[in-house]
Amino acid sequence: SDHNLPEVKEYLYKILVIGDLGTGKTSIIKRYVNNVFSMHYKSTIGVDFALKVLQWSPDTVVRLQLWDIAGQERFGNMTKVYYKEALGALVVYDVTRPSTFDGVTKWKNDLDQKVSLPEAWGGGSIPVVLMGNKCDLLKDGYSNKSESEMIKYCEENGFVKWFDTSAKENHNVDEAARYLVSQILEIE
Ligand code: GTP
Ligand code: MG
Repeated sequence: SDHNLPEVKEYLYKILVIGDLGTGKTSIIKRYVNNVFSMHYKSTIGVDFALKVLQWSPDTVVRLQLWDIAGQERFGNMTKVYYKEALGALVVYDVTRPSTFDGVTKWKNDLDQKVSLPEAWGGGSIPVVLMGNKCDLLKDGYSNKSESEMIKYCEENGFVKWFDTSAKENHNVDEAARYLVSQILEIE
């Protein structure tokens, strides 16, 4: 009989991927899910979806339903609908364009106003990871923000962690997603 099979725990998490236009949200998701990258820019319209299945541990499977939200949606009024029942978010900016870092605070405020954890989990804000993307374009890894500044920024603004990432060179994409999942599993 199946009686003695080990029990497998399965989770389905809705994850938002947000940030200003052209910061690399779609590229990060394509890298993460399909391990591909293209320099061709095709701006997302509205929202796109992708599914990533993670064998988290021998007895735990996590399915991530990734909501790839168009950067231009911050100026629209659909975000509340898109954010519904999300359990975590990745906020992406472009390390070569400071204006997209200003956008980070605006996206985070939008999230805090429109989505919270389920009552059964105590409510409160969903975990959010910050991604400074396109770090491959920085000469010698130079950025106008130091690591310690970013740690402080995250503490002060309610992000669980910051990663410098490159969808192009596959740097820290898995790590950032993994960290977000670990934070959600910890709450649940
Ligand atoms: P919207 O859907 O318009 O909000 O944009 P997006 O955030 O989904 O950006 P997208 O992934 O479409 O990438 C925009 C452009 O940046 C494309 O030309 C990508 O090839 C490029 N890009 C994305 N990630 C990286 C990266 O890590 N490094 C470099 N050099 N280019 C990148
Ligand atoms: Mg896109």
